[in-house]
Amino acid sequence: MSDRLATAAAVWDMAEYPPLAERLMPAALRIASALGSGQGRRAIDVAAGNGNVAACLHQQGWSVHATDVSQHMVELGRRRTGPTVHWDVAAAERLPTPDHSVAAVVSNFGLIFADVDQMVAEVHRVLRPDGVLVFTAWTTDSYMATMTDVLLRHLPGPPHPSPLAWGDPDVARARLAGLRDVDVQRDSLPWNFDSPAQAREFYERCSPAHAAAIASLAPPAATAMMDAVESHLAELTDTGGRVRIDADYLIVSAHPDSTRVARQEISA
Ligand SMILES: C[S@@+](CC[C@H](N)C(=O)[O-])C[C@H]1O[C@@H](n2cnc3c(N)ncnc32)[C@H](O)[C@@H]1O
Repeated sequence: MSDRLATAAAVWDMAEYPPLAERLMPAALRIASALGSGQGRRAIDVAAGNGNVAACLHQQGWSVHATDVSQHMVELGRRRTGPTVHWDVAAAERLPTPDHSVAAVVSNFGLIFADVDQMVAEVHRVLRPDGVLVFTAWTTDSYMATMTDVLLRHLPGPPHPSPLAWGDPDVARARLAGLRDVDVQRDSLPWNFDSPAQAREFYERCSPAHAAAIASLAPPAATAMMDAVESHLAELTDTGGRVRIDADYLIVSAHPDSTRVARQEISA
């Protein structure tokens, strides 16, 4: 595994993930409902975390292979689904999957973290000609984007390629130009807390991004960053002081272009 992927895996292991996964679950259900009944067809859940989409698809009769770059996530996922789902530690950039063998590639807020070109090439490689890609991505103007800005203002170093870019429909369409019938819809997750302080505690404990940012700073700088996060959350409270957030996201689907698949097969 490359240094970049090893670092990515380590970041995702820095927090208590299952409570965050619960908050992402409605979007996983949305992906599963877009796919419908599997009738034994094969799906791969990429960057599956502890298996939100994998668990839903198994319930719907799909034969599910779940993968994640983090060994810890895969262990959580195996514990959650048992042997009904096949799990592997694998990066989205290099899937342990034969060519044109799966009817669905799915990812709930996961493949957005992978190298774009390598990940898209893998989608082309593994999908059957009649298959479908369905994934979710935070919108570029979403609460997740403004929250990320608050963190980045406190972190040193050059900006990284942002996973949030997938949340611009034009960017998503351009990146998936080799696929056909790209469909982009918008939805939002209710992301509510009793108070800004409770939200702060949740982020510190359960959000890998926040935990990694805190760990990278000296204690006073980390406290200043989390004070800024809490102030940002205070701007999103209702009259009762509860944090009320609509975390907007896109649900993107696309299908392989059969002429491209034929060209790949001829050149193989
Ligand atoms: C926000 S979580 C989403 C997990 C899951 N899909 C869910 O619904 O809870 C992002 C996941 O992406 C994984 N991840 C990040 N970069 C990855 C990569 N390059 N390849 C595979 N998994 C990756 C992380 O380990 C983490 O489990």
